[in-house]
Amino acid sequence: MCGTENEHKGSCPNGRCGGGSLSDRRTFIKRAVGVLSAPLFALMAWPFVQSIIGTIFRLPKARYAKVGPLKEFPSDKPISPKFKYASGNEYFHSEELYNIWVIKHSDTEVTVFSPICPHLGCQYDWYPQAEKFICPCHGSFYSIEGKVLGGPAPRGLDTLPWKIENGELYVEWERFRVGTPRKIRIG
Ligand code: FES
Repeated sequence: MCGTENEHKGSCPNGRCGGGSLSDRRTFIKRAVGVLSAPLFALMAWPFVQSIIGTIFRLPKARYAKVGPLKEFPSDKPISPKFKYASGNEYFHSEELYNIWVIKHSDTEVTVFSPICPHLGCQYDWYPQAEKFICPCHGSFYSIEGKVLGGPAPRGLDTLPWKIENGELYVEWERFRVGTPRKIRIG
């Protein structure tokens, strides 16, 4: 006699009873569970997938961060203030401390440089005696206007978008590909 009880006791010849073998039923159940759980898994994973796609294919929207009152910046002299910059999307959010180089030309005009050397990404510094920005990694050096004066850097210093509102300087943090002659934004 075949039935569940006998199957469990192993009394069905060759494991086959009536409509099919035990292994056939197990395979069917596994497949059914797989088919039914796939949409559920996709539903749960969608926000994560969306955030990855968003990160890869969508650059963050312009968000200006407040750097500080412009009146506190010296005129025509590079200064490197730090500021907090919030970034992220609806799923990830972070706030990091960045520094930039700012040269104030007037109460309405500044130049803002990314602090990242366009050669291979080191941080450079301003040397007042030499009146140059110099990168310690491979010796690239730049004028106060950001032009390459020597070394392996393939382009000048990267400028960042800025605005002045109510006497406060705001900057948008951007990153650019290093090692290329063209300024290509990557984040
Ligand atoms: S990273 Fe600045 S010169 Fe190479």
